[in-house]
Amino acid sequence: MDKEILLKTENLNVDFKMKDGLPFVKKKFVRAVTDVSVEIFRGETFGLVGESGCGKSTFANATLGLLRPSSGKVIFCGKDVSSLKGAKLKEERRRMQKIFQDPAASLNPRFSVLDIVTEPLLIRGGYNKEERRRLAIEMLEKVGLSEADLPRSASEFSGGQQQRIAIARSLIIRPEYLVCDEPVSALDVSVHAQILNLLVDLQREMGVTYLFISHNLAVVKKICSRMAIMYLGKVVEYGSTEKIFSNPLHPYTKALMSAVLDTDVTHKKERIILKGDVSSPVNPPAGCRFCKRCPVAKEDCEKVPCMLEEVETDHFVACRFINK
Ligand SMILES: Nc1ncnc2c1ncn2[C@@H]1O[C@H](COP(=O)(O)OP(=O)(O)OP(=O)(O)O)[C@@H](O)[C@H]1O
Ligand SMILES: [Mg+2]
Repeated sequence: MDKEILLKTENLNVDFKMKDGLPFVKKKFVRAVTDVSVEIFRGETFGLVGESGCGKSTFANATLGLLRPSSGKVIFCGKDVSSLKGAKLKEERRRMQKIFQDPAASLNPRFSVLDIVTEPLLIRGGYNKEERRRLAIEMLEKVGLSEADLPRSASEFSGGQQQRIAIARSLIIRPEYLVCDEPVSALDVSVHAQILNLLVDLQREMGVTYLFISHNLAVVKKICSRMAIMYLGKVVEYGSTEKIFSNPLHPYTKALMSAVLDTDVTHKKERIILKGDVSSPVNPPAGCRFCKRCPVAKEDCEKVPCMLEEVETDHFVACRFINK
């Protein structure tokens, strides 16, 4: 059976204009996301990894319609949402939600849990008070909280519990697509596994598709079926998580993977330490953006365009020196 594409991007670009304020000086742009074309299948967890500032959140926000692409498309359920505006965009956005890194900052401490969790129902409209309360209890029970928690304020809860409240709020309107932007990195390590297991269980139960942004490759390996690795706004490797982990091909992916703690002592790995400075997203090289730090780069890598190519089924790499 063919997998259904829930969301895909086609040559997605997001540039931010820099405010330098000088007249007659050519405007500079931060090229936060450049030419990203990926497909996310319905019901899967799609991982997005890469170092800080490489454009993960910008990409996610563009897929949610929170940022308008500078060029390219976001296709959600077969519809080009990047060209929608006003009420039409709002309607599509109701099928998408996001949970943030820091639940404390994303929940209003003055609101009760009932207010927080039912807010999306109020915005959507069409639910009376009774129904909103019933759905809130149902959702709280799914995330391991209970009816007794409804009148309490969000600030009374621990970080892990606050993230459960945020998850309940996001899922109460049964979205099809949920962006989890580093959902556990602000939480105590002791609750990471609980929240991740909860997300996995809820996906199984509700069939929601996740875009899962993380710095933790071990977690990505465990919960993501497919993934993309970004470097300075561009995807350098993309496809099946299993294939990428068993056969990392891009020099940047290899360096990232070499830093992951591996318990398999039979499979000895050499740690690759990257040298050189990260290029600036303001003036990125026209060719490969990793070339300044790449151990196999040739002089012209900086100029020669470097496209993602499929090296095996569902495994794409953007490097000129990969043997197919
Ligand atoms: N509103 C904005 N205006 C200007 N530049 C921005 C804006 N938002 C992001 N950027 C820039 O775009 C680039 C990508 O930022 P983004 O937040 O997407 O990175 P990230 O991969 O999510 O990083 P992190 O792992 O730290 O969350 C960075 O260079 C950032 O400084
Ligand atoms: Mg981010």
